[in-house]
Amino acid sequence: MSRRTIQVDDRLYEYLVRVSVREPAALKTLRDETAVHPRAGMQISPEVGQLLQLLVRLTGARRTIEVGVFTGYSSLAIALALPADGRILACDVSDEYTAVARRHWQAAGVTDKIELVIAPAFETLEARLRQGEAGCYDFAFIDADKGNYIGYYEKVFELLRPGGLIAVDNTLWGGAVADEADQSADTVALRRFNEQLLADERIDLSLVPIGDGLTLVRRRG
Ligand SMILES: C[S@@+](CC[C@H](N)C(=O)[O-])C[C@H]1O[C@@H](n2cnc3c(N)ncnc32)[C@H](O)[C@@H]1O
Repeated sequence: MSRRTIQVDDRLYEYLVRVSVREPAALKTLRDETAVHPRAGMQISPEVGQLLQLLVRLTGARRTIEVGVFTGYSSLAIALALPADGRILACDVSDEYTAVARRHWQAAGVTDKIELVIAPAFETLEARLRQGEAGCYDFAFIDADKGNYIGYYEKVFELLRPGGLIAVDNTLWGGAVADEADQSADTVALRRFNEQLLADERIDLSLVPIGDGLTLVRRRG
């Protein structure tokens, strides 16, 4: 019974959520609003949001990065878990998606914690490195365009302090990463990303089968 990860069917998933997820009202409101959005599937699930909060608290994170904001669920989850002086550098290219995020951050009273930069995330991360911020961040969440994951990871890694943590979403990609017949660009990119992390001696890692697969990476010190 315990020699491999359990398969979670709908009934068990509902149970898991019922007995373990304590979703704050601000996050539930945002999730309900996003549910009718045509790209709602991009949002992380509430149990992943809660895990991110736990990781932020466990690491005592203050300076954090998010790559991929959408309507702001994961940023709001992280912001609510940060201490009063905690900050998020939030990266996205969409004014339209993040307008929703801004409204909900405002309602939840976390606007001061979030610096939203609308630009390709790779450029934003490079700029922060040029500004001398290497090693200054405690925690990062990567959840944007899959083809750029390796680039984001390398930049975020440089920005992270030794002992810091990176969480990367969608690393199981609906199971497609294990299906060699699937050679679509995003699947191939995620497969390469997973293989690159396995070979990376600078990190400790765990691919947690929660949500769509969440890889946790600790920068070795
Ligand atoms: C999967 S969604 C993020 C979901 C979000 N983390 C949440 O919890 O709701 C991916 C986001 O990445 C953004 N994105 C796509 N390409 C990007 C790029 N080159 N730089 C920054 N953001 C990008 C999209 O606009 C989109 O909002």
